[in-house]
Amino acid sequence: MLKRLLPRSLFGRAIIIVVAPVVLLQVVAAVVFYDRHLDQITRRLARSVAGDIGFVAAALTRETDNLARFHILQSANLRLNLSFTLDTKQKLKAGPLPNPGSPLEALLIRTIDEGLELAFTIQNRPEKKNYLIQVAFEGGVLRVLVPHNRITSATLGVLILWIVGSSLLLLAIAIIFLRNQVRPILRLADAADHFGRGQDVEDFKPSGAVEVRRAGDAFLRMRDRLDRHIRQRTEMLAGVSHDLRTPLTRLKLELAMLHDVPAATAMQADVDEMDGMIEGYLAFARGAAGERAVDTDINALLAEAVSDARRQGAVVDFATNGDLQGRLQPLSLKRCLDNLLGNAQRYAEHCAVAASRDGDMIEITVDDDGPGIPEDEREAAFRPFYRLENSRNQGTGGVGLGLAITRDTVRNHGGDVTLGEAPQGGLRATIRLPA
Ligand SMILES: Nc1ncnc2c1ncn2[C@@H]1O[C@H](COP(=O)(O)OP(=O)(O)OP(=O)(O)O)[C@@H](O)[C@H]1O
Ligand SMILES: [Mg+2]
Repeated sequence: MLKRLLPRSLFGRAIIIVVAPVVLLQVVAAVVFYDRHLDQITRRLARSVAGDIGFVAAALTRETDNLARFHILQSANLRLNLSFTLDTKQKLKAGPLPNPGSPLEALLIRTIDEGLELAFTIQNRPEKKNYLIQVAFEGGVLRVLVPHNRITSATLGVLILWIVGSSLLLLAIAIIFLRNQVRPILRLADAADHFGRGQDVEDFKPSGAVEVRRAGDAFLRMRDRLDRHIRQRTEMLAGVSHDLRTPLTRLKLELAMLHDVPAATAMQADVDEMDGMIEGYLAFARGAAGERAVDTDINALLAEAVSDARRQGAVVDFATNGDLQGRLQPLSLKRCLDNLLGNAQRYAEHCAVAASRDGDMIEITVDDDGPGIPEDEREAAFRPFYRLENSRNQGTGGVGLGLAITRDTVRNHGGDVTLGEAPQGGLRATIRLPA
């Protein structure tokens, strides 16, 4: 449940880890402050107002002389930041206290009520920013204007402004910093992804935090090791194949001289086959050496392979669906298609090529109506120099490298090739490439 609510990206999670505790802390601090501090301040302020009013009322009660009362009022007005007027002609219509508009006001009324021993009414007048308090007084009504700022403290607004403001500032800083931290990780992931598809990652440079940089360096070292390993393997095998050609040629010559030995013909065929294998491997090793991946129109590539096959007498249907683009090694991939089409031509009569997009993959199928490959031999058919029994028996040419090379190439592109059964009953080869 919680897992589904939390963000899935590293960026989102890091933001929460950084920001959540701070915001929580501020909210708790604000609530405690509001509850305790503000409460107390308001109570104190209200009490002091009630005290002032009570004091003035008591002083007025003591004097009956109008002039003396006038002097008391004057000096109270001057010194108390309250404005007193005495109305001796009216009587206070003391009703119930007004409904408080806010918890703060309720607290205010209650506190004044506690502090003042006289009957009073209170009226909030927001437009004049004051309270009008009328106090019942034996000689009439004592009216007091209490400015709002004598009773409420302005700190609450400021506090909230600070909390919201500093939280937003913190969020902004966290976003800027964390985005910069996440970017190198994404770059590393991209580089690894491209390398997996056989594309260049020359422009990748490890950056960011020490750990990310370490991962980047490790990736680069791994890439170099893999590159070196592949190159070494290919070069070594190419060297061996190349060196085998000389003794093989000598063997061929010697066999050719043995006219009257019956076994020589069979040996000649074996040597020819070996020669073919070596040729095939050398061709592959030459081709595999470092072709660059470029943006390629796969439809055009397919059309070219199909027309090549038709020129060699194959009957090929070709259907494609939509615009298919991919970043790949065109020559290597063309060789794969030539291999598959060559197989179809060799082992079947008709063949059908189709291509379409499937999500973020491109799917190419090559179907034929030949004998197909039994299910338990399909994996084996990808092994280098592997040929099915019937292919050997019928003496159909080929050394058994085609499918092995095809799988190698397609996997280097980050895709895969599989064998299955075609609707026509023959073999279906399916190539899936990342688009
Ligand atoms: N379309 C097909 N129909 C039936 N069998 C096939 C088909 N394609 C391949 N095979 C079988 O799989 C084996 C391996 O195929 P692969 O393309 O690797 O080698 P090859 O065609 O014999 O030789 P090469 O392609 O190197 O010239 C073939 O020898 C053949 O027995
Ligand atoms: Mg083949």
